[in-house]
Amino acid sequence: MTFRIAQISDTHLSAEKPFFVANFERIGEALRADRPDLVLNSGDISLSGESKEIDLSAGRALHDAIGLPVRYLPGNHDIGDSQNLAAHGVPVITDERRIRYLAHFGADFWTLDVPGWRLLAINAQLLGSDLAAAADQEDAIVEATASLGARKLALFLHMPLFDRAVDEPAMNWRFVDPAPRRALLERLRRMPPALIASGHIHQYRERWSDGVCHVWAPSTGYVIPDRLQPLYGSKQVGYVEHRLEPDGRHDSRLVQVPGMPTLNIADFPEAYGPI
Ligand SMILES: [Fe+2]
Ligand SMILES: [Fe+2]
Repeated sequence: MTFRIAQISDTHLSAEKPFFVANFERIGEALRADRPDLVLNSGDISLSGESKEIDLSAGRALHDAIGLPVRYLPGNHDIGDSQNLAAHGVPVITDERRIRYLAHFGADFWTLDVPGWRLLAINAQLLGSDLAAAADQEDAIVEATASLGARKLALFLHMPLFDRAVDEPAMNWRFVDPAPRRALLERLRRMPPALIASGHIHQYRERWSDGVCHVWAPSTGYVIPDRLQPLYGSKQVGYVEHRLEPDGRHDSRLVQVPGMPTLNIADFPEAYGPI
């Protein structure tokens, strides 16, 4: 039987600053009608959960209200950015932030077996970090691939691995840095994922690279203006449906929910400050 995942992403939820809650609730209604087998939020669940725990609890309550099975992955706004970005003055991942996230959303890296497939979800902010949990996650990745058997592997993480080329050298806040990217792919070398799905960019894109399908889920809430972020795919809100077949075939598509406006972060200076 086909396993259907509704990947929502970058919901940026907050009760104090509920700018993106109405869009989320529209998606929730659409999901309740569609009844996917799993809803997966690929991070930036909360607006500012890395510094305001109240945003984490608000995000969790809104997901519980959907009434469907939901699994989560942390984004930089939930748990802090990658450690290499500390020099830029942004909050970065710490044990304290991570433990707070775990209390609200459960494991930050996990696997789930469904017919013909293993879902492997990882914490992108742990990649390249010196937290003890980073080594635990590496062990979990090795174990998940070693025991894969005949299953196909679908990898989920908040940040895309790269834009166009696996060996591109650029270091920025949009993609996994080259060194941890290489380390991750080395661990996956014997059993490369058939599908790698991410969020973070607030754009939808599907692109194949070396036989692997890379799918970027858009935000459910807002896009980022062109003067701050190039166009990589398409700037529109929505979610992604992944259909995983027991025989290993798979298909992903963008789903747009009628009546859901594509908001622009530039119109919400109270969210993260003026753009
Ligand atoms: Fe985001
Ligand atoms: Fe993000």
